[in-house]
Amino acid sequence: MAEIVIVESAADAGGLVADEIVRLVRTRPDAVLGLATGSTPLPVYDALRSRLSGVDVSRVRGFALDEYVGIDPRHLESYRNVIFREVVEPLGLDPARVRVPDGSLEGIAHAGDDYEAALADAGGVDLQILGIGTDGHIGFNEPGSSFASLTRVKTLTAQTRADNARFFDHPDDVPMHCITQGLGTILRAKHLVLLAFGAAKAEAVAGAVEGPVTASLPGSAIQLHPHVTVVADEAAASQLRFADYYRYTWAHKPEWREL
Ligand code: PGA
Repeated sequence: MAEIVIVESAADAGGLVADEIVRLVRTRPDAVLGLATGSTPLPVYDALRSRLSGVDVSRVRGFALDEYVGIDPRHLESYRNVIFREVVEPLGLDPARVRVPDGSLEGIAHAGDDYEAALADAGGVDLQILGIGTDGHIGFNEPGSSFASLTRVKTLTAQTRADNARFFDHPDDVPMHCITQGLGTILRAKHLVLLAFGAAKAEAVAGAVEGPVTASLPGSAIQLHPHVTVVADEAAASQLRFADYYRYTWAHKPEWREL
């Protein structure tokens, strides 16, 4: 079962996950981080900024989950730009060691296979940061995505495009297609850390953690993985049936156990 940690604030969640990432990088200086975009992971990146000062990150590698297809590479909201602006530059990572799926139309036919090959060359992701969409997606694996899927092009749901419209001048500007690591790709990471904040995520979190394992709620794929940490604030955890048990488990976690 996933470990569910219910925290008071997004900042607390950020600190908790950042501590785990620092521990990983200290033991494995060439650790492979699975990077997510969106609002959710920002507290982790914020918390990492101070915690990583003095830690050698020159060999850390990173792989983003997804990218919009056909977006102007200079657009501020292309995930390549977001990852470089929010993660690579502030944390001082080596840009050459961080990859984002290539959403340019010219290479799209083989971009998924290329990305899978690069992930395999790197030896896979050590710790994958995940957000969850209001429709239950992880990465951009929309409802119906196969649990065996690898990196490929998907069509965004109207809901996801509406959710992401805040990043664009006009809702119609949100791209229709994306390239995303598949659920099968994500499940290969050694440790999944799913974060969720706010009441809008409560239903998706409850479905992912406690609902049936179903492609209709892609986040439920986490139930198939042996090492998952879900970090949610009270609002995002508000529909969890066994929330009291998760709090009890966390309160009694042996000190020798890591996340
Ligand atoms: P958000 O998106 O972090 O911006 O809420 C999460 C997601 O769509 O995976």
